[in-house]
Amino acid sequence: MSTSNITNIPSTQNCYIDGKEIKYTEGQTILEAASQADIYIPHLCYNKKFKPHGSCRVCIVNINGHSSCACTTPVTPNAKIESDTVELNHDRRVLVQMLFTEGNHFCPSCEKSGDCLLQTTAYELGMVSPHFSPNFPIREVDASHVDMLIDHNRCIFCSLCVRASREIDCKNIFGLAQRGAKTTLSVNSPSGRLGDTDFSSSDYAANICPVGAILHKGTGFKNPIGQRSSDITPLKTHSTSGEDA
Ligand code: SF4
Ligand code: FES
Repeated sequence: MSTSNITNIPSTQNCYIDGKEIKYTEGQTILEAASQADIYIPHLCYNKKFKPHGSCRVCIVNINGHSSCACTTPVTPNAKIESDTVELNHDRRVLVQMLFTEGNHFCPSCEKSGDCLLQTTAYELGMVSPHFSPNFPIREVDASHVDMLIDHNRCIFCSLCVRASREIDCKNIFGLAQRGAKTTLSVNSPSGRLGDTDFSSSDYAANICPVGAILHKGTGFKNPIGQRSSDITPLKTHSTSGEDA
């Protein structure tokens, strides 16, 4: 083997997460290193199949005294990373509460209840109320597609459907339009309706939404209470997201 081949092998280094020494491979992000060491860091917009988007900020950690997103920040040798602290979990809880009040999330009547990353993360973070006054935005349900439904009330703008449609399905059906509180999920068709696209229920993007915003018609409440993913496996024991919805 040539010397250049040897030097190209990524080196293994150590870092510390919540005081626990773990090994990571050079180039890994904090979230990747934590996941590899079975350490759960809450996250919503991250999915290991895609380049991180860094938008939800729920994965916030302290690294060497500065706060940063675990999904986008590379680990550095001997870094001291704090994740499971009262302060960080409080900040994460506030972010999740804001997501609940910025949209219309009525968990008891949602088909995705028990299989929803937003709901499960809220439970894990000990959220007992939305805390903030609800905005009750007026958002539409797009039922124009023969097999699929978009309930815009539940979208958390994680962009996973956008990335999946563009990078895996090669269709570019979805986009995020506008910014901040005015952000909307847009559909790339002249009418803006899903039924006027070539979206298919077998598309990767049709099966990736972590909440109940992109749904298959005719399959509501398919997992009865007691058999939903959060009934069976607590989020903390899941590997970092990469499972399809
Ligand atoms: S529809 Fe679902 S996957 Fe797409 S941006 Fe909204 S929450 Fe994310
Ligand atoms: S910003 Fe890291 S998971 Fe969303």
